[in-house]
Amino acid sequence: MSEGYGYGKVILFGEHFVVYGLPAIASALSGKTIAKVEDSDKFELVDNRPETPGYKEKKKAQQDDSLRRIFEFMKIDVEKSPIRITLSGDLVAASGVGASAASCAAIARALNDHFNLGLGDEGINRVAYEGEKGYHGTPSGIDNTAATYGGIILFTKGDPPKMERISMKNPIEIVEGNTGVTSDTKTVVEDVAKKREENLEEFEKIFSRAKEITEEAKDALINADAEKIGRLMDENQELLRKIGVSSDELETLIKIAKNNGALGAKLTGTGRGGLMVSLTPSKELQEKVANAIKEQGFGIFINNIG
Ligand code: MEV
Repeated sequence: MSEGYGYGKVILFGEHFVVYGLPAIASALSGKTIAKVEDSDKFELVDNRPETPGYKEKKKAQQDDSLRRIFEFMKIDVEKSPIRITLSGDLVAASGVGASAASCAAIARALNDHFNLGLGDEGINRVAYEGEKGYHGTPSGIDNTAATYGGIILFTKGDPPKMERISMKNPIEIVEGNTGVTSDTKTVVEDVAKKREENLEEFEKIFSRAKEITEEAKDALINADAEKIGRLMDENQELLRKIGVSSDELETLIKIAKNNGALGAKLTGTGRGGLMVSLTPSKELQEKVANAIKEQGFGIFINNIG
């Protein structure tokens, strides 16, 4: 039996803009997806990951497509060598946590081990990227890179993509709020592309500020300057609103977090559902914001970045 893992992630700056070649920053989360691969008499996928209700069902067809792409890319014939893949781990499968990328990286690692393919991290990341295409269509690559390598990364799409590690002076507490809504990355990314086509001039201005925000955020993160990180998160959210990827539930979560003292709050990942991330330096503030979100009936995830 072989096992592999993939990290969950939170995009702190630059989601969507990263699809257009602008830099973005993601931090891996402590939650992981684990994949086990063992010989079997027929191909089987057992998905035991905890989930936001409805997530796994909604993503099933994309998951099948993703697996097909992974097998093809790794030249594995599951008809000839039948296997059972079992997914588990403490990462809750939900929109916004990089659940698909974490599972792709975990599966790639477990298959690599099971079939003795000798891939290193770079190869695993490449396979996870192919797998992500089943979910995203045209992924930027930030999710699979964060899922494969962990830590905080500054990522720029490309062939090859650019990845720079960011090391923070000290960790900072965050609270994520879960809208409970599963969004479809492919659809939302396509909608943004359409809106851009219709508003090229406005998008140019938005893109140029988005790039500056991520660059300023890199230094603020290195210095663990919470005030500045928070301000930049708010500004990033303003741009995400403009490109049309926020939602009422996300705005409600942002308001709760900000009203209870969070230094910054924004959607993370695809948007139109999924998760809100807020910056809550100190255990007390983290607890206060988390409780306020829970009181309003939303799910929460508590974490540190750095
Ligand atoms: C999704 O987690 C992040 C997006 O920027 C899409 C991508 O980078 O491929 C929305």
